[in-house]
Amino acid sequence: MRWVVTGGLGFIGSNFIRIALRERPDLEIVNLDAMTYAGNPANLRDIEPARRYRFVHGDIADPAAVREALGDGADAIVNFAAETHVDRSILDPEAFLKTDILGTHVLLEAVREQKIARFLQVSTDEVYGHVAEGESKEDDNLRPRSPYSASKAGGDLQVLAYHTTFGTPVIITRGSNTYGPYQYPEKLIPLFITNLIDDQTVPVYGDGMQIRDWLHVEDHAHGIMHVLEQGELGEIYNIGGGNGRTNLEITEKLMHGCGRDIKTHVRHVADREGHDRRYAIDTAKARALGWKPRVAFESGLPATIQWYRENEAWWRPLKSGEFGEYYKRQYAHR
Ligand code: DAU
Repeated sequence: MRWVVTGGLGFIGSNFIRIALRERPDLEIVNLDAMTYAGNPANLRDIEPARRYRFVHGDIADPAAVREALGDGADAIVNFAAETHVDRSILDPEAFLKTDILGTHVLLEAVREQKIARFLQVSTDEVYGHVAEGESKEDDNLRPRSPYSASKAGGDLQVLAYHTTFGTPVIITRGSNTYGPYQYPEKLIPLFITNLIDDQTVPVYGDGMQIRDWLHVEDHAHGIMHVLEQGELGEIYNIGGGNGRTNLEITEKLMHGCGRDIKTHVRHVADREGHDRRYAIDTAKARALGWKPRVAFESGLPATIQWYRENEAWWRPLKSGEFGEYYKRQYAHR
Protein backbone atom coordinates (compact mmCIF):
# COMPACT_ATOMS: atom_id res chain seq x y z
CA MET A 1 0.00 0.00 0.00
CA ARG A 2 1.41 3.38 -0.98
CA TRP A 3 -0.11 6.77 -0.17
CA VAL A 4 1.13 10.06 -1.52
CA VAL A 5 0.64 12.68 1.17
CA THR A 6 0.98 16.33 0.18
CA GLY A 7 1.93 19.02 2.67
CA GLY A 8 3.26 16.35 5.00
CA LEU A 9 5.77 18.71 6.60
CA GLY A 10 2.94 20.87 7.91
CA PHE A 11 1.08 20.54 11.19
CA ILE A 12 -1.75 18.11 10.46
CA GLY A 13 0.09 16.34 7.62
CA SER A 14 3.15 15.51 9.73
CA ASN A 15 1.03 14.20 12.60
CA PHE A 16 -0.93 12.12 10.06
CA ILE A 17 2.26 10.60 8.57
CA ARG A 18 3.65 9.69 11.99
CA ILE A 19 0.40 7.99 13.03
CA ALA A 20 -0.19 6.25 9.68
CA LEU A 21 3.33 4.77 9.56
CA ARG A 22 3.00 3.61 13.16
CA GLU A 23 -0.45 2.06 12.77
CA ARG A 24 -0.18 0.59 9.25
CA PRO A 25 2.95 -1.61 9.13
CA ASP A 26 2.61 -2.35 5.39
CA LEU A 27 2.16 1.25 4.35
CA GLU A 28 4.67 3.32 2.38
CA ILE A 29 4.28 7.10 2.32
CA VAL A 30 5.64 9.58 -0.19
CA ASN A 31 5.51 13.12 1.16
CA LEU A 32 5.33 15.92 -1.43
CA ASP A 33 5.91 19.25 0.28
CA ALA A 34 6.89 22.70 -1.04
CA MET A 35 8.64 23.62 2.23
CA THR A 36 6.98 27.02 2.51
CA TYR A 37 7.31 28.85 5.84
CA ALA A 38 5.01 26.32 7.55
CA GLY A 39 6.54 23.17 6.07
CA ASN A 40 9.18 22.18 8.56
CA PRO A 41 11.44 19.10 8.23
CA ALA A 42 11.83 19.14 12.02
CA ASN A 43 8.15 18.09 12.25
CA LEU A 44 9.20 14.62 11.08
CA ARG A 45 12.70 14.49 12.50
CA ASP A 46 11.83 11.35 14.48
CA ILE A 47 10.82 9.26 11.47
CA GLU A 48 13.35 10.32 8.88
CA PRO A 49 15.07 8.51 7.27
CA ALA A 50 12.68 5.58 7.33
CA ARG A 51 12.44 2.65 5.00
CA ARG A 52 8.77 3.24 4.31
CA TYR A 53 9.03 7.01 3.88
CA ARG A 54 10.22 9.09 0.93
CA PHE A 55 10.33 12.86 0.72
CA VAL A 56 9.89 14.83 -2.51
CA HIS A 57 10.47 18.58 -2.44
CA GLY A 58 7.92 20.23 -4.72
CA ASP A 59 4.75 22.20 -5.16
CA ILE A 60 1.34 20.59 -5.78
CA ALA A 61 0.70 23.28 -8.40
CA ASP A 62 3.64 21.91 -10.42
CA PRO A 63 2.59 18.87 -12.51
CA ALA A 64 6.20 17.66 -12.82
CA ALA A 65 6.61 17.57 -9.03
CA VAL A 66 3.33 15.69 -8.68
CA ARG A 67 4.46 13.16 -11.32
CA GLU A 68 7.74 12.68 -9.46
CA ALA A 69 5.93 12.03 -6.19
CA LEU A 70 3.54 9.56 -7.80
CA GLY A 71 6.42 7.63 -9.41
CA ASP A 72 4.99 4.38 -10.69
CA GLY A 73 1.70 4.86 -8.91
CA ALA A 74 -0.08 5.13 -5.60
CA ASP A 75 -3.16 3.70 -3.96
CA ALA A 76 -4.28 7.09 -2.68
CA ILE A 77 -3.44 10.77 -2.52
CA VAL A 78 -4.20 12.70 0.65
CA ASN A 79 -4.03 16.44 0.07
CA PHE A 80 -2.97 18.39 3.15
CA ALA A 81 -0.98 20.96 1.17
CA ALA A 82 -2.57 24.37 1.59
CA GLU A 83 -2.08 27.95 2.61
CA THR A 84 -4.06 27.90 5.84
CA HIS A 85 -3.79 31.08 7.87
CA VAL A 86 -6.76 33.45 7.62
CA ASP A 87 -4.76 36.53 8.69
CA ARG A 88 -2.14 35.89 6.00
CA SER A 89 -4.91 35.54 3.40
CA ILE A 90 -6.04 39.05 4.31
CA LEU A 91 -2.51 40.39 3.80
CA ASP A 92 -1.75 38.38 0.63
CA PRO A 93 -4.62 36.42 -0.97
CA GLU A 94 -2.87 35.31 -4.16
CA ALA A 95 -0.77 32.50 -2.69
CA PHE A 96 -4.05 30.97 -1.42
CA LEU A 97 -5.59 30.84 -4.87
CA LYS A 98 -2.49 29.20 -6.29
CA THR A 99 -2.10 26.41 -3.76
CA ASP A 100 -5.65 25.82 -2.56
CA ILE A 101 -7.40 25.98 -5.94
CA LEU A 102 -4.83 25.55 -8.72
CA GLY A 103 -2.80 23.02 -6.70
CA THR A 104 -5.94 20.98 -6.04
CA HIS A 105 -6.72 21.07 -9.76
CA VAL A 106 -3.25 19.77 -10.68
CA LEU A 107 -3.68 16.87 -8.24
CA LEU A 108 -7.13 16.04 -9.61
CA GLU A 109 -5.68 15.90 -13.12
CA ALA A 110 -2.97 13.51 -11.89
CA VAL A 111 -5.63 11.31 -10.26
CA ARG A 112 -7.46 11.11 -13.59
CA GLU A 113 -4.35 10.47 -15.68
CA GLN A 114 -2.84 7.84 -13.38
CA LYS A 115 -6.14 6.28 -12.34
CA ILE A 116 -5.44 6.65 -8.63
CA ALA A 117 -8.13 4.79 -6.67
CA ARG A 118 -8.73 7.45 -3.98
CA PHE A 119 -8.18 11.17 -3.56
CA LEU A 120 -8.88 12.69 -0.17
CA GLN A 121 -9.13 16.48 0.06
CA VAL A 122 -8.43 17.83 3.54
CA SER A 123 -10.72 20.82 3.92
CA THR A 124 -12.12 22.96 6.69
CA ASP A 125 -15.30 23.91 8.52
CA GLU A 126 -14.57 27.53 7.49
CA VAL A 127 -16.09 26.88 4.06
CA TYR A 128 -19.56 26.96 5.69
CA GLY A 129 -18.88 30.49 6.93
CA HIS A 130 -20.19 31.98 10.14
CA VAL A 131 -22.90 29.83 11.78
CA ALA A 132 -25.12 31.88 14.12
CA GLU A 133 -26.76 28.81 15.65
CA GLY A 134 -26.96 25.07 15.19
CA GLU A 135 -24.31 23.04 13.38
CA SER A 136 -23.24 22.89 9.73
CA LYS A 137 -23.99 19.67 7.91
CA GLU A 138 -22.04 18.39 4.94
CA ASP A 139 -24.67 19.35 2.38
CA ASP A 140 -25.20 22.89 3.70
CA ASN A 141 -24.52 25.81 1.38
CA LEU A 142 -20.96 27.13 1.37
CA ARG A 143 -20.67 30.75 2.47
CA PRO A 144 -16.93 31.36 2.87
CA ARG A 145 -16.09 34.90 3.94
CA SER A 146 -12.29 35.20 3.93
CA PRO A 147 -9.85 34.82 1.01
CA TYR A 148 -8.59 31.67 2.77
CA SER A 149 -11.97 29.99 3.19
CA ALA A 150 -13.09 31.08 -0.28
CA SER A 151 -9.97 29.41 -1.73
CA LYS A 152 -10.63 26.21 0.22
CA ALA A 153 -14.26 26.25 -0.91
CA GLY A 154 -13.03 26.71 -4.49
CA GLY A 155 -10.82 23.64 -4.08
CA ASP A 156 -13.74 21.63 -2.62
CA LEU A 157 -15.99 22.59 -5.52
CA GLN A 158 -13.37 21.48 -8.05
CA VAL A 159 -13.06 18.16 -6.23
CA LEU A 160 -16.83 17.59 -6.30
CA ALA A 161 -17.08 18.75 -9.92
CA TYR A 162 -14.43 16.20 -10.95
CA HIS A 163 -16.43 13.50 -9.24
CA THR A 164 -19.62 14.48 -11.05
CA THR A 165 -18.05 15.16 -14.43
CA PHE A 166 -15.29 12.56 -14.70
CA GLY A 167 -16.21 10.06 -12.00
CA THR A 168 -12.95 10.90 -10.17
CA PRO A 169 -12.82 8.89 -6.89
CA VAL A 170 -12.78 11.68 -4.32
CA ILE A 171 -13.65 12.21 -0.66
CA ILE A 172 -13.58 15.47 1.31
CA THR A 173 -13.05 15.92 5.04
CA ARG A 174 -13.87 19.23 6.72
CA GLY A 175 -12.06 19.63 10.01
CA SER A 176 -12.57 22.09 12.82
CA ASN A 177 -9.90 24.15 14.62
CA THR A 178 -7.04 21.80 15.32
CA TYR A 179 -4.48 22.03 18.13
CA GLY A 180 -1.58 19.96 19.44
CA PRO A 181 2.16 19.38 18.91
CA TYR A 182 4.01 20.83 15.90
CA GLN A 183 1.55 23.63 15.09
CA TYR A 184 3.24 26.66 13.57
CA PRO A 185 3.11 29.43 16.19
CA GLU A 186 1.04 31.88 14.12
CA LYS A 187 -2.22 30.17 15.18
CA LEU A 188 -4.10 31.14 18.34
CA ILE A 189 -3.10 28.32 20.70
CA PRO A 190 0.63 27.95 19.91
CA LEU A 191 1.06 31.73 19.50
CA PHE A 192 -0.45 32.38 22.91
CA ILE A 193 1.41 29.54 24.65
CA THR A 194 4.81 30.57 23.28
CA ASN A 195 4.20 34.27 24.01
CA LEU A 196 3.18 33.42 27.58
CA ILE A 197 6.19 31.16 28.12
CA ASP A 198 8.26 34.21 27.12
CA ASP A 199 6.31 36.46 29.50
CA GLN A 200 4.84 38.48 26.62
CA THR A 201 1.27 39.68 26.11
CA VAL A 202 -1.19 37.89 23.81
CA PRO A 203 -3.27 39.76 21.20
CA VAL A 204 -7.01 39.01 21.56
CA TYR A 205 -9.02 40.11 18.53
CA GLY A 206 -12.11 42.27 19.19
CA ASP A 207 -14.21 41.20 22.16
CA GLY A 208 -12.78 37.66 22.23
CA MET A 209 -16.28 36.15 22.17
CA GLN A 210 -15.81 34.37 18.84
CA ILE A 211 -16.41 30.62 19.09
CA ARG A 212 -14.29 27.85 17.60
CA ASP A 213 -14.66 24.06 17.95
CA TRP A 214 -11.34 22.56 19.09
CA LEU A 215 -10.10 19.18 17.85
CA HIS A 216 -6.87 17.46 18.88
CA VAL A 217 -4.54 16.87 15.95
CA GLU A 218 -4.34 13.13 16.64
CA ASP A 219 -8.13 12.89 16.50
CA HIS A 220 -8.09 14.86 13.28
CA ALA A 221 -5.40 12.60 11.75
CA HIS A 222 -7.30 9.47 12.82
CA GLY A 223 -10.49 10.92 11.37
CA ILE A 224 -8.83 11.51 8.01
CA MET A 225 -7.32 8.02 7.98
CA HIS A 226 -10.65 6.47 8.91
CA VAL A 227 -12.51 8.33 6.18
CA LEU A 228 -9.77 7.54 3.65
CA GLU A 229 -10.13 3.83 4.36
CA GLN A 230 -13.85 3.55 5.08
CA GLY A 231 -15.54 6.57 3.52
CA GLU A 232 -17.75 6.51 0.48
CA LEU A 233 -16.49 8.05 -2.73
CA GLY A 234 -18.07 11.38 -3.65
CA GLU A 235 -18.95 12.09 0.00
CA ILE A 236 -17.99 14.83 2.46
CA TYR A 237 -17.33 14.14 6.16
CA ASN A 238 -17.18 16.75 8.93
CA ILE A 239 -14.53 16.06 11.57
CA GLY A 240 -14.87 18.14 14.72
CA GLY A 241 -13.94 17.89 18.38
CA GLY A 242 -17.28 19.01 19.84
CA ASN A 243 -15.43 21.52 22.03
CA GLY A 244 -16.98 24.88 21.22
CA ARG A 245 -15.24 27.58 23.30
CA THR A 246 -14.93 31.36 23.08
CA ASN A 247 -11.46 32.72 22.43
CA LEU A 248 -11.56 34.33 25.89
CA GLU A 249 -12.24 30.96 27.50
CA ILE A 250 -9.23 29.54 25.66
CA THR A 251 -7.15 32.55 26.69
CA GLU A 252 -8.08 32.04 30.35
CA LYS A 253 -7.15 28.37 30.23
CA LEU A 254 -3.80 29.18 28.62
CA MET A 255 -3.11 31.88 31.22
CA HIS A 256 -3.81 29.38 33.95
CA GLY A 257 -1.72 26.64 32.29
CA CYS A 258 1.22 28.98 31.74
CA GLY A 259 1.01 30.61 35.17
CA ARG A 260 0.20 34.13 33.86
CA ASP A 261 -2.46 36.67 34.74
CA ILE A 262 -5.11 37.74 32.24
CA LYS A 263 -5.02 41.30 33.63
CA THR A 264 -1.39 41.83 32.76
CA HIS A 265 -0.92 39.51 29.80
CA VAL A 266 -3.85 40.21 27.46
CA ARG A 267 -3.68 42.97 24.86
CA HIS A 268 -7.06 43.66 23.25
CA VAL A 269 -6.39 44.53 19.62
CA ALA A 270 -8.50 45.52 16.61
CA ASP A 271 -10.65 42.69 15.30
CA ARG A 272 -9.78 40.64 12.22
CA GLU A 273 -11.51 42.03 9.11
CA GLY A 274 -14.63 39.99 8.26
CA HIS A 275 -14.04 37.85 11.35
CA ASP A 276 -16.38 34.83 11.49
CA ARG A 277 -18.06 34.78 14.90
CA ARG A 278 -18.81 31.11 15.24
CA TYR A 279 -18.14 27.75 13.64
CA ALA A 280 -19.87 24.53 14.65
CA ILE A 281 -20.19 21.30 12.70
CA ASP A 282 -22.37 18.23 12.92
CA THR A 283 -20.10 15.18 12.93
CA ALA A 284 -22.81 12.47 12.91
CA LYS A 285 -21.81 11.26 9.45
CA ALA A 286 -18.16 10.56 10.39
CA ARG A 287 -19.32 9.02 13.68
CA ALA A 288 -21.71 6.72 11.82
CA LEU A 289 -18.64 5.50 9.92
CA GLY A 290 -17.04 4.48 13.23
CA TRP A 291 -14.80 7.48 14.03
CA LYS A 292 -15.01 9.62 17.14
CA PRO A 293 -12.64 12.04 18.87
CA ARG A 294 -10.81 10.47 21.82
CA VAL A 295 -8.72 13.25 23.33
CA ALA A 296 -10.67 15.24 25.93
CA PHE A 297 -10.04 18.96 25.60
CA GLU A 298 -9.50 19.18 29.39
CA SER A 299 -6.41 16.95 29.10
CA GLY A 300 -5.40 17.72 25.50
CA LEU A 301 -4.87 21.42 26.14
CA PRO A 302 -2.61 21.08 29.22
CA ALA A 303 -0.66 18.32 27.40
CA THR A 304 -0.17 20.71 24.49
CA ILE A 305 1.12 23.44 26.81
CA GLN A 306 3.50 20.88 28.27
CA TRP A 307 4.68 19.87 24.79
CA TYR A 308 5.56 23.48 23.92
CA ARG A 309 7.36 23.84 27.25
CA GLU A 310 9.44 20.73 26.52
CA ASN A 311 10.10 21.54 22.88
CA GLU A 312 11.44 25.06 22.89
CA ALA A 313 14.19 23.87 20.54
CA TRP A 314 11.45 23.18 17.98
CA TRP A 315 9.56 26.50 18.12
CA ARG A 316 12.22 29.07 19.04
CA PRO A 317 13.86 29.03 15.60
CA LEU A 318 10.40 29.43 14.03
CA LYS A 319 9.64 32.57 16.03
CA SER A 320 12.72 34.35 14.73
CA GLY A 321 13.36 35.17 11.07
CA GLU A 322 10.27 35.20 8.80
CA PHE A 323 7.93 35.08 11.77
CA GLY A 324 9.32 38.29 13.31
CA GLU A 325 8.58 40.23 10.11
CA TYR A 326 5.11 38.69 9.86
CA TYR A 327 4.32 39.46 13.51
CA LYS A 328 5.22 43.13 13.03
CA ARG A 329 3.15 43.36 9.85
CA GLN A 330 0.18 41.63 11.44
CA TYR A 331 0.13 43.13 14.92
CA ALA A 332 2.19 46.35 15.17
CA HIS A 333 -0.59 48.65 13.93
CA ARG A 334 -3.49 47.05 15.80
O1 DAU B 1 -11.78 26.09 11.57
C1 DAU B 1 -10.70 25.46 10.94
C2 DAU B 1 -9.66 26.50 10.66
O2 DAU B 1 -9.09 26.87 11.90
C3 DAU B 1 -8.61 26.06 9.67
O3 DAU B 1 -9.20 25.83 8.43
C4 DAU B 1 -7.55 27.14 9.52
O4 DAU B 1 -6.52 26.72 8.66
C5 DAU B 1 -6.99 27.48 10.86
O5 DAU B 1 -6.07 28.55 10.73
C6 DAU B 1 -8.09 27.86 11.84
O6 DAU B 1 -8.66 29.14 11.49
P1 DAU B 1 -8.95 30.26 12.58
O7 DAU B 1 -8.92 31.58 11.91
O8 DAU B 1 -10.14 29.94 13.40
O9 DAU B 1 -7.63 30.04 13.52
P2 DAU B 1 -6.69 31.05 14.30
O10 DAU B 1 -5.82 30.22 15.18
O11 DAU B 1 -6.04 32.02 13.39
O12 DAU B 1 -7.71 31.86 15.20
C7 DAU B 1 -8.57 31.23 16.11
C8 DAU B 1 -9.43 32.31 16.75
O13 DAU B 1 -8.58 33.14 17.55
C9 DAU B 1 -10.08 33.24 15.74
O14 DAU B 1 -11.36 33.63 16.21
C10 DAU B 1 -9.15 34.45 15.70
C11 DAU B 1 -8.62 34.50 17.12
N1 DAU B 1 -7.23 35.05 17.25
C12 DAU B 1 -6.26 34.49 16.48
C13 DAU B 1 -4.96 34.96 16.55
C14 DAU B 1 -3.88 34.35 15.69
C15 DAU B 1 -6.97 36.07 18.15
O15 DAU B 1 -7.86 36.55 18.88
N2 DAU B 1 -5.66 36.53 18.21
C16 DAU B 1 -4.67 36.03 17.44
O16 DAU B 1 -3.51 36.54 17.54
